[in-house]
Amino acid sequence: MATIIAPSILSADFAHLADEVKKVTVAGAEYIHVDVMDGSFVPEITIGAGVVKDLRKITDAILDVHLMVEHPETQLESFAKAGANIITFHVEATNHSHRVIQKIHELGCKAGIALNPGTSLSAIEELIEFADMALVMTVNPGYGGQQFIESMLGKIHMLYHMIDEMETDCDIEVDGGINAETSVLVREAGANILVAGSAIYNSADVAQSIKDIRGKEIVHHHHDE
Ligand code: DX5
Ligand code: ZN
Repeated sequence: MATIIAPSILSADFAHLADEVKKVTVAGAEYIHVDVMDGSFVPEITIGAGVVKDLRKITDAILDVHLMVEHPETQLESFAKAGANIITFHVEATNHSHRVIQKIHELGCKAGIALNPGTSLSAIEELIEFADMALVMTVNPGYGGQQFIESMLGKIHMLYHMIDEMETDCDIEVDGGINAETSVLVREAGANILVAGSAIYNSADVAQSIKDIRGKEIVHHHHDE
């Protein structure tokens, strides 16, 4: 599976957001990762659906919205209407994950389920067949520029095999501390969508950093091969 790069605009210059988005899409980034924080599920507050609506006007890239909010069910409609393509919510933030997935699909978007580093894969086992994507957080959500938690590699690997054995389609996205070095590790473990904020936006050569994070294609061997 080809790797998809999802630059996180959390590390971009918010005063020049349109330019910051163009900068990464002309360099080949497929997704734009939008980090939505509510000051409750995570300490900071970032951006809302209004920003997504304006971004929708200036890019054709897939808008990959990562909701780090309590009560995600109350936010789905505004982000879908704003033009989000993928809406990912945290399973820790709702008692009704399955219903949230259904609602995201009804709104015409792809549904992602996110897991904090401290949350076990068992929390999403029954959801994988319904979700389009599972997001394994490789840092604790809330801030850009944190250090990659290496023990998450085992979780990614287990998830990869779980999905393979279920013979279902579910992308594996990773988010937090992804750079050229950690990219190789997470891709070997089975991730195919890589979010990167500081490694891309703090780089002097954005195109080169995207290229470095994308790396060389890794071939996986499935259980039935
Ligand atoms: C963290 C956000 C990430 C963040 C990643 O809570 O979900 O998307 O922007 O930043 P880096 O790539 O700098 O770890
Ligand atoms: Zn994110």
